[in-house]
Parts: sequence; C-alpha cells; structure tokens
Amino acid sequence: MKCRYCSREAIEIINGKAYCEEHFSKYFLGKVRSIIDKFNIKGEIAVALSGGKDSAACLHALHSMGMEVKPFYINLRIPSYSEACEKKAAQLCDMLGYEMKVIDVAEYGISLEKERKPCSTCGTVKRYLMNKFAFDEKCTCVATGHNLSDAVTFAFNNLANVNILNFRGNKPYLEGKEEYRMVAKVKPLYWLKDKECMLYTIINNLPFAEEECPYSINAPTLKIKDWLHALEGEWPNIMVNLAKSFWRLEEMMEKETNINICKKCGFASYGSICKFCKIRAKMEKQEK
Ligand code: AMP
Ligand code: FES
Ligand code: ZN
Ligand code: ZN
Repeated sequence: MKCRYCSREAIEIINGKAYCEEHFSKYFLGKVRSIIDKFNIKGEIAVALSGGKDSAACLHALHSMGMEVKPFYINLRIPSYSEACEKKAAQLCDMLGYEMKVIDVAEYGISLEKERKPCSTCGTVKRYLMNKFAFDEKCTCVATGHNLSDAVTFAFNNLANVNILNFRGNKPYLEGKEEYRMVAKVKPLYWLKDKECMLYTIINNLPFAEEECPYSINAPTLKIKDWLHALEGEWPNIMVNLAKSFWRLEEMMEKETNINICKKCGFASYGSICKFCKIRAKMEKQEK
C-alpha cells in the first residue's frame, strides 16, 4: 500500500490512513506538537527517562522539536532490571548529546525488595523524586513518556477497582503549584498509542530496554491494555474517544483537595507528613 501523502510504501495504517516512514514521523511529531502548543510548554523541561521505548520517543521528539530538555533517570535498585534500563537511557542521552542525571533511591534509604506492594511504593517514590528533581533544577515542567494506551488503561483499572478519586492526574497536563513546590507535569505522547511509540523508537534507532519490570509481570493493567488494543482493532479511534471522555469526567469532578505542606520535607502532601517521608521513615525503622 502507498502512503496517502506521497508515492512511497506505507509502513503503518492509522485510522484507515496509510503512512510512509517520513509521513508517520510527521504525524507523530504533530501529535506531540499539539500538546506542547495547547498547554504553552516552554522553558527547560525535565524529561523522565525509564530506559523504555516511550520515554525514549518522548525525549527524541522534544529534542527534534528544538525544546530545551534536561533528561534524568531514577535508579530504583531493582536487581538487574534497573541497571539494564539505566544503560539504555544513558546510551540514548549519549546519542542525542545530553548529560543524564541519575537519582539513586538508595541515597534516600529506599529499597523495594521487602515491600508487600512494590509497585505502589515505587509509584509514590517515582512521582516524588521526579517532582523534586524538576523543582531543584528549576525546570518549568516534568515530561513523562505516558502514552494514550497508558492513560486509558489507568482509567479503566481505577474504574475496575472502584477507585474513583484516582481518576485524577490522568490529563495530558497538570498545572504546577509553586507554594506547594509542585512542578507542572506534561505527557507529550498523550495522543499516541503503544504501537505508534514503538514504531517511532524503531524508525529512529533509539536504544531502549525490552525487559519488563520483574514486579509488574502479572499486573492486571497489562491484560487491560491488551484488551483495549484488541478493541481498537475493531473500533478505530475508540481509545482517543475514551481518553477524551475520561478527561472530561476528570474535569467535572475536580475540586480543590486539601493539600498541605509536608512537615518533614516541605513538598506537597495530603496529610501532615507526605507518603514519601512515611516510606523513608518505615524503611529507616526496618534497618535498625
Ligand atoms: P511507568 O510508570 O513505568 O509506566 O512509566 C511511565 C513514565 O514514567 C515513563 O515513560 C517515564 O517517563 C517515567 N519513568 C518511569 N520509570 C522511571 C525511572 N526509573 N526514572 C525516571 N523516569 C521514569
Ligand atoms: Fe516500579 Fe516496577 S518499575 S515496581
Ligand atoms: Zn509519505
Ligand atoms: Zn515529605
């Protein structure tokens, strides 16, 4: 099949339209551009690299658009997995000519190994350290590689667990709140599916780790994602529609939640001590 914009062979069909390599890249960057323009993203962006395909595509896309970026990686000390991911993230930064900052959770006395729910602790730790890095480095926002498949899966998983409040934070952009040391967050790949991110990474020869995190191998979200992709095969654009609906629902339920300032670290918290400081305190006790 030929590309709908030129005479070259198509490499991907999106919503019934065929794209060659060059026009697929244009399509991809156009989707990223739409987020950057809509939310007026400028200044230095802290780009969170996981070593995986999505954050690699995210950094590359922002780089090719001439945005100012500061890539960083959080080493979660997950045996063999964290090293493999760090290596790929570092290779990507070398390739694009950036220095990569590494944040080591061990410096905070954190280890996921003995955790009953490692993924949940990991999520809190990552969110906290991403924000802290961007705040300390005075970046205007943090960019993550969350894509459309992630956003819709996250919303469905919360619905499936009657976890309505956690619907929040699923939008492509969250404003920062200076008084709470909260830096704005952006998901430049919000309109792009897993498969499209993978294709962009491959076309551009970006290094990425193929390993899955050993703690998430049986995660229910992986099944939800497969199911959504199968559904998309029969109903093109359903994921974009679902994301738009979830986004609208999220806006309708948004009200000021009671944010405090953590007494220990000074960053935002729902209680008087934030979840990150509670995790640290618990692990310090375990050490003794
Ligand atoms: P995940 O939570 O693993 O699905 O990752 C979602 C996004 O969070 C990735 O695309 C990255 O932007 C970011 N991220 C995940 N793990 C790390 C990490 N170890 N260090 C820095 N950023 C990360
Ligand atoms: Fe955090 Fe797997 S990456 S638990
Ligand atoms: Zn073309
Ligand atoms: Zn704290």
